[in-house]
Order: sequence, then structure tokens, then C-alpha cells
Amino acid sequence: MEIIISQTAEESSVLAARVIARQVREKPDSVLGLATGSTPIRMYQELIRMHQEEGLDFSRVTTFNLDEYVGLPRTHDQSYYYFMQEQLFKYLNIPAANIHLPDGMAADIPAHCAEYEAQIQAAGGIDIQVLGIGSDGHIAFNEPTSSLSSRTRIKTLTEQTIEDNSRFFDGDETQVPRHCITMGIGTIMEARMNLLLAFGEGKAEAVVQTVEGPISSMIPASILQHHQSAKVFIDESAATKLKLKEYYKWVYAGKPEWQKDQ
Ligand code: GLP
Repeated sequence: MEIIISQTAEESSVLAARVIARQVREKPDSVLGLATGSTPIRMYQELIRMHQEEGLDFSRVTTFNLDEYVGLPRTHDQSYYYFMQEQLFKYLNIPAANIHLPDGMAADIPAHCAEYEAQIQAAGGIDIQVLGIGSDGHIAFNEPTSSLSSRTRIKTLTEQTIEDNSRFFDGDETQVPRHCITMGIGTIMEARMNLLLAFGEGKAEAVVQTVEGPISSMIPASILQHHQSAKVFIDESAATKLKLKEYYKWVYAGKPEWQKDQ
């Protein structure tokens, strides 16, 4: 794992966007795995800026999102489909046919999940997967005790996640769907690079467990210790609990410039 600590979430977001931009420039038909949540929004804004001001071209890019709530139509303003349209897709030139999210209204959910996996395979696999992290250490909606080799499937949210996400539903926990469709941890681990973002002190405990704790399904993100290419972009407040914080900074500061967005 490579731990990249910046003073602010703003700086982290720009650095992470550069990694994605480099990928897209080098391989214009890249397959990107995308995430929702508040964390990646600033990084998406930077990608939009690069598209608009620097001509970063997404016309051959394919995307797969991590997850979606079950029971929310795509028109619902809290569906992840709606979120992605509003926060990213409507500003970029990714062809609509290349954009994939799980369908929370699918009639046959197991068949839909199998099809989603098949589509990722058919696209050649994911080059870079963007991840946020839940305060309980979940990635996508793989809650604690998820199988570390799970595939795309239906999951039940934990009470903690329902509480965390209720802020998007007028603070009303009863409005948060109980179920979701999520890529599995096995699916995420097959991405050629994983890029995890975590900002703020509310994520500090999940971050230290992920990076320096034992690998455990109790902290699903900790499986990234097994990934060959996992970058963790965090701000100072998410880094407060890391024992080796100064070491990570020292390592990153010593990297040659050309290596920083690889
Ligand atoms: C949700 C999403 C995750 C996301 C997490 C953190 O549960 N399914 O993909 O990482 O929230 O969200 P935020 O970035 O808003 O803290």
C-alpha cells in the first residue's frame, strides 16, 4: 500500500485526479471503477476541470460504479445513478453506453449481479478503481464480515451505515434503503489499481485499521494490504492515528516527480 498524506482534502483530491488523468491519457479506452459518497466529489471536479480546460478526453472510457441502493429508481435524487450524473457524467464526454451502474430496480437481482460481473470481464477488467471508506471500514457497500472474496451481490446495510448516510435523506434514517447491490471485495481486488480516498477525523480510525491493522473481514478495506497496487490518499485529519505517519510522508517526499502520479 502506498499512503499519500496531504495537508488538505483539496490537495489529496488533485493528486488522485492526476493518477486517473495519467491513466486515461496513456490508455484512452481505460476502464474506470467509480465511487459515490461525498469524498470523491472534489476529485471529480478536478477531472471535469482537466476535461474542460486541458482537453482530457473520456470519449473512449468505460466506467463501472461500485454500488447502488435497492429500490431507488435512477431518477431518485439519492440514487447513485443520479449522483454520478450530477457530479460527473453530465460534464464529461463518456458515451452513455459505456457507463455502468448496478440497477437498484432490477427484477432479478442475482441475474443482474452476474451480468454486471460479466460486463466488467467483457470490458477487460477495471484499470483503476476509486474507493471511499465507511466509518466502519466498508468499501463500496461491503459491510464488516463480508466475504473477502465476494462478488457483486445484494447486501444489507449496517445500522452504522444507515445512520451515516441518513444525512443525504433529510436526516431521516427510515428513508435510507436497507439493501444495496455492491461489487464484491473479490471484484474490487481484481482491479489493476485501487485508489482509496479518506478525509476528515471521522475516517481516522477506519484508516488506521485499514493500513496498519490486521487483515480482517471486520474491516473490509484492510484486504487492500493484499493488493499489488493500492494507493491511499488521505488528509492530515484522517491520518492522525497512523503510527508510521512520518515515514509515509518521508517516502512520498523522496519519490521522483515522474513517479508521483503512477
Ligand atoms: C457509502 C458508499 C461508499 C462510500 C461511503 C463513504 O456507504 N457506498 O462507497 O465510500 O459511503 O461515504 P462518504 O465519502 O460520504 O464518507
